[in-house]
Amino acid sequence: MSESRTDLPPPRPAKSSLKPSLTVPLLSILAPILAVTVLYRHEPLDPAPLPFEGLSVTVAAPRENGRMLRGAEMVGAGRMVGPEDVAYDPASGDIYVGCADGWVKRVRVSDSGGDSAVEDWVNTGGRPLGLALGRDGEVIVCDPFKGLLNVSKDGTMELLTDEAEGVKFKLTDAAAVARDGTIYFTDASYKYTFKEFIWDFLEGRPHGRFLSYDPATKETRVLARDLYFPNGVALSPDQSFVIFCETVMRWCKRYYINGDRTGHIDTFIHGLPGYPDNIRYDGEGHYWIALSTGKSMSWDLALKHPFIRKAIAIMERLNKRPAMEKNSGIFQVDTEGKPVAHYYDPKLSLLSSGTKIGDYLYCGSLHYPHILRLKLD
Ligand SMILES: *[C@@H]1O[C@H](CO)[C@@H](O)[C@H](O)[C@H]1NC(C)=O
Repeated sequence: MSESRTDLPPPRPAKSSLKPSLTVPLLSILAPILAVTVLYRHEPLDPAPLPFEGLSVTVAAPRENGRMLRGAEMVGAGRMVGPEDVAYDPASGDIYVGCADGWVKRVRVSDSGGDSAVEDWVNTGGRPLGLALGRDGEVIVCDPFKGLLNVSKDGTMELLTDEAEGVKFKLTDAAAVARDGTIYFTDASYKYTFKEFIWDFLEGRPHGRFLSYDPATKETRVLARDLYFPNGVALSPDQSFVIFCETVMRWCKRYYINGDRTGHIDTFIHGLPGYPDNIRYDGEGHYWIALSTGKSMSWDLALKHPFIRKAIAIMERLNKRPAMEKNSGIFQVDTEGKPVAHYYDPKLSLLSSGTKIGDYLYCGSLHYPHILRLKLD
């Protein structure tokens, strides 16, 4: 290097030929580029390309309500934080929600929705996400920090399972209980914790599993692996298949549990206009799929191009990631997966569940301090 120096032209005189008026704008362009280049080279996240099938299509519903916040009520306002899932016990009329402070709360909704009773029921010590009513009146709780939990009617908590095939769960997410007692559930990631879930999206590799737990044998089985953030779970009314949503791929798959197709997986719905979280069957011919955020140009580009996800990762590390969540809502489909209606609002982000109770849709979310209740008509 030192020898080649001699070939260089003599150093410029101290006074630069560039006028100060030009130097400043040039610097203001070059400095960020340089900074980004350095950050980019040092960013350890190595994002992967995603399967193309998931990114190409988008379906629409025949009925749309793009202003679902209008006329919606806030149930239990200020007495809960981030009620992610909303589970209904028709026997008692109670609603259970899993909150960000670890509480599974029991809510008794008054007809007006306004003066509902909210009771701290059981604290898991983690962060309850998906909830499902068990056959003995217990609540099955998916806690990403604990695993699959059984909270019996009297409030006793028991760990059912927290690993499969020697791999620990890191993000137990949602569950559904079959009539025969089998619990179907998802572990969204074995690599990233709940607090780091954004990194799973940004990395774009399939770290999730779809599993079953048999309470009779206490056996945990892996039914499907290499999934892209498997999330909500729901059984078909005839118990012939179980649906699980893969958030990153904007689709829901069907896993057959009866008949000749047992163990086979196919698509229930793909090309959702947003990123699916929980899914619930209402007992009346429809599934309600929560879309945590609507499809957007920024997420589309990010999922298509690993280098954009790397750039977002850098911003995330600097705590400067732009808000990319909007148009969150609930997508209604029939038993064949055909779209029926889409409820959303530009102002909504991170809705995580939609549960139909009577004539109302109750929506849980990751961060609002209430349940959103919408009259359906
Ligand atoms: C949960 O615990 C209760 C009380 O022990 C029991 O009745 C129920 O069967 C348990 N459920 C599961 C799925 O293990």
